[in-house]
Order: sequence, then C-alpha cells, then structure tokens
Amino acid sequence: MKTLGVGIVGTGWVSDEYIKAFSKHEHCEVVGICSRDAQRARNKIAEHKLANCEAFTDLSAMIQQKGLDVAAICTPHHLHVDQGVACAQAGKHVIVEKPIAIDIAGVRRLDQAIRAAGVKSIVSFVLRWNPMFDNIRAMLERKVIGDIFYAEVDYLHGVGPWYRIWEWMRKREFGGSAILAGGSHAVDGLRWFVQDEAVEVTAYSNRSRSNPLQYEYSPNTVTLVRFAGGAIGKVACTLECRMPYVFNVELFGDKGSIRNNKLFTTELPGQNDWATIPAIQPDSGDVSHHPFQQEVNHFVECIENNVESHANVADAAKTHEICMAADLSAAEGRPVKLPLP
Ligand SMILES: NC(=O)c1ccc[n+]([C@@H]2O[C@H](COP(=O)([O-])OP(=O)(O)OC[C@H]3O[C@@H](n4cnc5c(N)ncnc54)[C@H](OP(=O)(O)O)[C@@H]3O)[C@@H](O)[C@H]2O)c1
Repeated sequence: MKTLGVGIVGTGWVSDEYIKAFSKHEHCEVVGICSRDAQRARNKIAEHKLANCEAFTDLSAMIQQKGLDVAAICTPHHLHVDQGVACAQAGKHVIVEKPIAIDIAGVRRLDQAIRAAGVKSIVSFVLRWNPMFDNIRAMLERKVIGDIFYAEVDYLHGVGPWYRIWEWMRKREFGGSAILAGGSHAVDGLRWFVQDEAVEVTAYSNRSRSNPLQYEYSPNTVTLVRFAGGAIGKVACTLECRMPYVFNVELFGDKGSIRNNKLFTTELPGQNDWATIPAIQPDSGDVSHHPFQQEVNHFVECIENNVESHANVADAAKTHEICMAADLSAAEGRPVKLPLP
C-alpha cells in the first residue's frame, strides 16, 4: 500500500488532532506543515516528532512538494475556499474544516473545483463518527422508531475568550455567522438523521442586550427546516450561553422516539420507560474528545478504494445551504426556499 503524504495548513487547535490522527494511520505520513510563521511550523514538527516533515510558509510551495497527496485545511473560515481550490487544482485530496465557506458563492466555487479536479474531499462534520451518532443511525436504518416526523438537534456552546478561536470567530469577516461557525454541526446532524432534502428554512437570531462576548453577528439562532418528505426539524444554536457544552439530539418517529442515548419504541411490547444505550456522546466542545481518528481512517479508505465520502464537499454544501438560508431568513424576516438561487 502506498504511503499517503499529508500536508497540514494552519498550526492551531484542530491541526494537532489531524497531525495525531494521520501519524497514527499506518498508510499515512505528515510531510508538510504550512504556517504564516516558519518557526511555528517548525515547532509543530518538533512537538509531534515528525521525522520527514518540512515547514512551509507558502501553501502553493507545500502542495507542489513531491509526495504530498492530501491536504488538511485547519485555518479560519474565510480562507477555506481559496486554500481548498488551490489544493484541488494541484490534484490533492482535501480535508476542509467546517464551515467550508462563509457565502454561497464560495461553497459553489469549492464544490466545482473539487468536481473538476476529480480529487476526494471530506468536510469535518466529525460528529458523523461519534459512537452515539453511529447507534442512532443503526436504529434508524432498522426502523426502530419508524419514520421520523419531527427532529431537534441543538448546538449549545458558549464560545468566549476561554477559546483561542473566539478571537477571530466572533468577527463576521472571519467567522461568518453563528450557525456557520458552530451550529453547522447540528444542521449536519439533522440532515444525517432525517436523510431527506431540505426544501424550506425559517430562522430567528439575536444576541443578549449586553453582548458580553462581543460578537459582531447575532450569536444565537433558532432554525426551522421543512424536508421534502414532510418531516420538520429544529436547530437551536447559541454561542453565547453560559453553561457546560450541550449537543442535543431528539428524534420523534411514528413507532418511537430517541432522546440522545435514550430510546423508547413501541416495537418492544413490554417497554414502559426509556432504555439507555451506553455510548460516547457528543457532549464535549474539546477537540481531543472528537473522533478525528475515525474521520481520517474513513477518508484514507475512500482515497484508497476510490469512492466518495458521505461527508464530501458536495454533501456538505447542502448543510451549508441550510445554514445560509437560516441567516438570510433571520435577516429578512421571511421563509427561504432551497436550493438557494
Ligand atoms: N470539526 C470540529 O469539530 C472543529 C472543532 C474546532 C474547530 N474547528 C474548525 O477548525 C478550523 C480551525 O480552528 P482552530 O480551533 O484550530 O483555530 P485556531 O486554533 O485559531 O487555528 C487556526 C490556525 O490558522 C492559521 N491562520 C491563518 N491565517 C490566520 C488568521 N488570519 N487568523 C488566525 N489564524 C490564522 C493559524 O496558524 P498559523 O499562525 O501557523 O498560520 C492558526 O493557528 C476552523 O474552521 C474551526 O471552525 C472544527
């Protein structure tokens, strides 16, 4: 099996998780790290004891490096499209952190570049590899709760100065919006569970009067989604809440309900209370808790077997369209039909 050479773009919090995950994969080796500052890249190489890795300050130089097959883009949101397009055009497979873009033109530009280049892509909606998500999907596939008619998935995560990312994420130019920056995980979860095309979105957003976390955009959004098959969904997203991280999944079907790791189903005749299914839940905002290793393993498998990931840019574009429709709906005070024009 050929060893895949991997280049990491950015040296922040998430980059460490990719470096660890690719380094642990027996078919991969991290061969390049690109930073705005050469010393920071060299420090990362030393910190992770990367034996055959070069430091770069120029992305185009890194992706021209012989032996580099995959790039992982771990930078602020406004950079993802240009960096992703450059990697795709150089023939590299790409991991792009969420959100892939902060406007719909960017989403489409990246999607087209990846399709045109014929490279593999994955967007880091990493909860798709969370064990509780796996359990829920397995139950849904077996129709344990029948057909979903209503679903709620919520991202309730206070992001303030205690997170390094807050410094740039709270700014519109770099972060985009609350639902793009964080709530996109919940929107993607909603799509992942309902498994249908969204056709209409309505949303409201606000911020607390004191705006203590100095968000340039409204840090709180509640979004309603109508799906083609008739199911409806709700996503609450708050970056301003003051409480421990909560990621909430509630699914209601015609034969039962799922509330995070709890199941009630009319398929089990004697059941008269919730059954708890033990599994790691998506209950932490700490990236070292997230299943990046499983995501990387899946992506390498897709590259090696020449198959598309279920979380490729083309699929993630649909999650982003819902987020962008929510922002438009909240701004204009009207429901927004999908796909966006
Ligand atoms: N999938 C998930 O669960 C998850 C979790 C957390 C974050 N994320 C996403 O991962 C991406 C990176 O987040 P992070 O937490 O790693 O952020 P971070 O710690 O701030 O790191 C971002 C890195 O990007 C580079 N960079 C390039 N231009 C920059 C600029 N103008 N301002 C700031 N940094 C710049 C910096 O590296 P150099 O200084 O070396 O150039 C910086 O270390 C974001 O898209 C974020 O939303 C995803």
